[in-house]
Amino acid sequence: MPKKYIKAIDALQEAQKIAFAPFVFQTTVSLKNLGVFDFIFQNVAKGGVTLTEICEELSISEYGLSVLLEMAESANIVSMDERGRYELTKIGYFLNYNPMTQVNMNFTQDVCYQGLFHLEESIREGKPAGLKELGNWPTIYEGLSQLKPEIQKSWFAFDHFYSDGIFEEALKIVFRHQPKLLFDIGGNTGKFAIQCCAYNEEVNVHIFDLPGQLKVALKNTADQGFGDRVQGSEIDWLSENPQIPMGADTIWMSQFLDCFSKEEILKIFKTAVNAMDSQTELIIIETYTDRQKFDNAKFTLEATSLYFTALANGNSKMYKATELIELAEAAGLELKDDISLGEFHTLFVCKKK
Ligand SMILES: C[S@@+](CC[C@H](N)C(=O)[O-])C[C@H]1O[C@@H](n2cnc3c(N)ncnc32)[C@H](O)[C@@H]1O
Repeated sequence: MPKKYIKAIDALQEAQKIAFAPFVFQTTVSLKNLGVFDFIFQNVAKGGVTLTEICEELSISEYGLSVLLEMAESANIVSMDERGRYELTKIGYFLNYNPMTQVNMNFTQDVCYQGLFHLEESIREGKPAGLKELGNWPTIYEGLSQLKPEIQKSWFAFDHFYSDGIFEEALKIVFRHQPKLLFDIGGNTGKFAIQCCAYNEEVNVHIFDLPGQLKVALKNTADQGFGDRVQGSEIDWLSENPQIPMGADTIWMSQFLDCFSKEEILKIFKTAVNAMDSQTELIIIETYTDRQKFDNAKFTLEATSLYFTALANGNSKMYKATELIELAEAAGLELKDDISLGEFHTLFVCKKK
């Protein structure tokens, strides 16, 4: 990005925004949770509401509300007119009502906020030093099924927000090839396996995941009536010599490889290549930082990388498409299709060279 001109006074203002960023963030979370944003928005038609009206309606002290709203006004989240009536700005509206922003905010607050305090330590040690705030596991993935319910809810909402929407589109590409057996690597809660079985009545799905997740995935798929067509195997890709068998028509890795370092991805690819024949398709779905149309999407992905650093595993990130292509080629794969899906995602179809 080329260097942008900015006046010193504006730069100083921007620097303060960063210096106090957690204050603005926590102010926003508090106003949202206290119902202030909703109440202000519900009164937009009558030209906004005063501090006193909000205090009375929501039983918040005048002191408490005043400190929050003063910060929010300076941060352009609410505006106040000359009669002291508050309205949401466009930013405030998005903070409270835009689904992507809601998912990102809950993820930041519930999953990441405390752990991020240990970011520097994570970089120095090459370990997710913030994970101890959530539990005692080597990576977050061992602990996913044991997270506290509200933390787990925000983790899954974030994960699913960035994959659910594209599964339907992806199914058409997956089933061009009429796979009879699909390996879902990192099958998580079984959501994709369920959609595959609902989409095609002949396909069998084999999920590979860590023990805790696999148990959840197999329960969910059985509950949906697909117990006879969805099987699973425990695997830890960080163990000495992880293996998957031959026999799949399609190997599916959706938002899975970003959980690993480049060296680990190379090992996963090589393992997959050993389990493929000339017809097997390896389908990879990721959100790549160099494939985003909008700056805010790239920004979200870069923040997500820091979640991997401080909380998830200490060594993975959201990659550039060019990086994954290089690794795939180094492992003996050839990129056959490169398809953009939805707003953020890219689907690669690879075959064995
Ligand atoms: C971000 S989730 C992706 C889930 C799903 N495929 C999707 O598209 O929403 C990553 C998945 O990889 C699994 N995973 C992470 N590390 C793993 C490891 N070391 N061995 C096996 N599975 C792992 C996690 O348990 C989780 O189910």
